[in-house]
Amino acid sequence: MGITFDQGTRTFHLQAKDTSYVFQATPSGYLVHLFWGKKVRPADLSYLARAGAVGRAFSPGPVCEEGMPFSLDTTPLEYPSFGTSDLRAPAFHVQQPNGATASELTVRAHELVPGKPALTGLPATYVEDDAEAETLTVDLVDPLSNLAVQLTYTVYRDFDAITRSARLVNHSAEPLVLHRALSASVDFSHADFELLHLSGAWARERHIERRPLAPGCQSVESRRGASSHQQNPFVALLEKGATEDHGDVYGFSLVYSGNFVAQAEVDQFQTTRVSMGINPFDFAWYLEPGESFQTPEVVLVYSAQGLGDMSRTYHRLYRTRLCRGTFRDRARPVLINNWEATYFNFDAEVLERIARTAQALGIELFVLDDGWFGRRNDDRSSLGDWVVNREKLPDGFAGLGERITGTGMQFGLWFEPEMVSPDSDLYRAHPDWCIHVPGRRRTPGRNQLILDFSRAEVCDAVIDMVSQILTDAPITYVKWDMNRHMTEVGSATLPPERQRELAHRHILGVYRVMDEITRRFPHVLFESCSGGGGRFDPGILHYMPQTWTSDDTDAVCRLKIQYGTSVVYPASAMGAHVSAVPNHQVGRVTSLEMRGHVAMSGNFGYEMDLSTLSEGEKERVREQVRLYKEIRPLVQQGDMYRLKSPFEGNEAAWMFVSEDRREAVVFWFRVLAQPNAPLGTLKLKGLDPNLDYGLVDTRHVYGGDVLMNAGIALPLHKGDFQSAMWRFRAG
Ligand code: DGJ
Repeated sequence: MGITFDQGTRTFHLQAKDTSYVFQATPSGYLVHLFWGKKVRPADLSYLARAGAVGRAFSPGPVCEEGMPFSLDTTPLEYPSFGTSDLRAPAFHVQQPNGATASELTVRAHELVPGKPALTGLPATYVEDDAEAETLTVDLVDPLSNLAVQLTYTVYRDFDAITRSARLVNHSAEPLVLHRALSASVDFSHADFELLHLSGAWARERHIERRPLAPGCQSVESRRGASSHQQNPFVALLEKGATEDHGDVYGFSLVYSGNFVAQAEVDQFQTTRVSMGINPFDFAWYLEPGESFQTPEVVLVYSAQGLGDMSRTYHRLYRTRLCRGTFRDRARPVLINNWEATYFNFDAEVLERIARTAQALGIELFVLDDGWFGRRNDDRSSLGDWVVNREKLPDGFAGLGERITGTGMQFGLWFEPEMVSPDSDLYRAHPDWCIHVPGRRRTPGRNQLILDFSRAEVCDAVIDMVSQILTDAPITYVKWDMNRHMTEVGSATLPPERQRELAHRHILGVYRVMDEITRRFPHVLFESCSGGGGRFDPGILHYMPQTWTSDDTDAVCRLKIQYGTSVVYPASAMGAHVSAVPNHQVGRVTSLEMRGHVAMSGNFGYEMDLSTLSEGEKERVREQVRLYKEIRPLVQQGDMYRLKSPFEGNEAAWMFVSEDRREAVVFWFRVLAQPNAPLGTLKLKGLDPNLDYGLVDTRHVYGGDVLMNAGIALPLHKGDFQSAMWRFRAG
């Protein structure tokens, strides 16, 4: 690992674990991208840029450099400008006092530091020891406008990951307006790639989409004020035909929870430019003299061994150097949540019954979901009034807390702190505290409005309200929900020229509130949620190490949702619960066994009234909980290998392997039964070929080589919704 700078060729060579990323300052100071891929020794790679490729029609130029003409439009660049001859998508777009938006960056200086400095006000990956990473900052400037851009790159010693971000500073005497300020831009010399992204909807999050690149711009983005269910802030370029285990893969993951764009532009010469950052749509940032703007971080991961290897790098990095706090490395409790059991209709007796039954089956944490506060008997009121509803819970949290903890369970609570119901005391007292545009309708979403977190006093009030309850009640877990997207985007306090800063300022406020509350209550495990997985992004994971993956708890739907989510996010980040059948979202009846196996592939829990189960079913639940506690370290801390994709057929399979490769657990699922189906085998991955593994339960011994090259025999059960689990341990 390390970053070197060759004075002679002015080349920066960044080496992460097994990755090289190389760029060069030309004699005139343009920062030219040369290479990103498998590790190479430091060398002069300037020939790769073909900067002399002029004479290409309609590429403006030449720009003359030491007598050698070239066009910026045909040059791979690290942070491309607009309006000075590169006609592809720029990384930034700045309006100057004379109204012009042309700019041109050249390098001034650079600095290398050990470790990884934090990004002010923004979540980011981090190091625990400076020896884990090295950071380079390259200073560029547009001499005419005096806009400076600091590009920051961190390489990790133990991961094939390089992080990038940019800081834009106004060194002029007059205001500048940023219309676009992306985090990173990477140029590739060809377009023989497929683009992979994670798209969906509420209850259908992060389905894998994969398609060949085509000339023009292909992008995924959010304009919804949140990262969203609809698109995840992640894209990957895959070498054509790359698989789980083979081929070059380049991942781009944005550590951000608001409006974003990720785009791949294939230009006239079949080169590809990937750009990622805050969505420029409806964004403008007024930069006073001396002020700076920090972009969020992009985490670039390269793998020469396919998508699976890329995912495992993200999993390990995000599990250990993005998530933080007491629960980062701790076993996450098996929980029971009352939402699908009762919805808003509960009292203390009902909750205690659910908790008692669950406790007797080995479950560790009881979570009280929506409906405990204000006059909240449906979703039409009370968000913002975080005061316990004494009609439902006459003894308040003191009484309920005693009842729950008295059963031997930990006690967890649902909040939706970023929202306000128009029918609430908070709204009646502060009607201007929500995001709105004066004179326009305030469009409700799920009967609620969004509190304006660009305002410090709103954030402070929310911090106080949540802190009060976490101080008074014996709470060790919080489910932090967020159930609508932005409309009428405006703030009562921002001046007109800063109104388009609101969406980003709001997210900065969300981060401040999350940072403050999670630091104040380090003993509390926080699980984020946004109508299920609408904000399953690295930004939120920095503060809250797990997320409710989807409101769709159907085991079949969850195969695709959890498989797609695993492209970037580790199983330790995914909440996964067994719910009742017929399933409340899709009406499907699946076996308790399959529901258990799907949910055991994440942070396991139940979301149903277990007291309604037969004694036989309860016994199977007890067994599931017992089993999960045994495999929990593997699922939550192990390496995940995807074996069969639910997007490609009737089956799905994945496995988790311990770091020392001595233990593994394998899950297999078949959705529909087929007559005369082939006798299937399943080849495992990630094991040590030289070790012998005993199948826990039967003690049958298999060589690791046999398990990976010949595979295990799949069951021949009849019936839809089949699943199986195998556990292997090296002798
Ligand atoms: C949406 C969440 O995703 C659900 O799990 C539940 O907490 C409801 N909100 C409560 O309103």
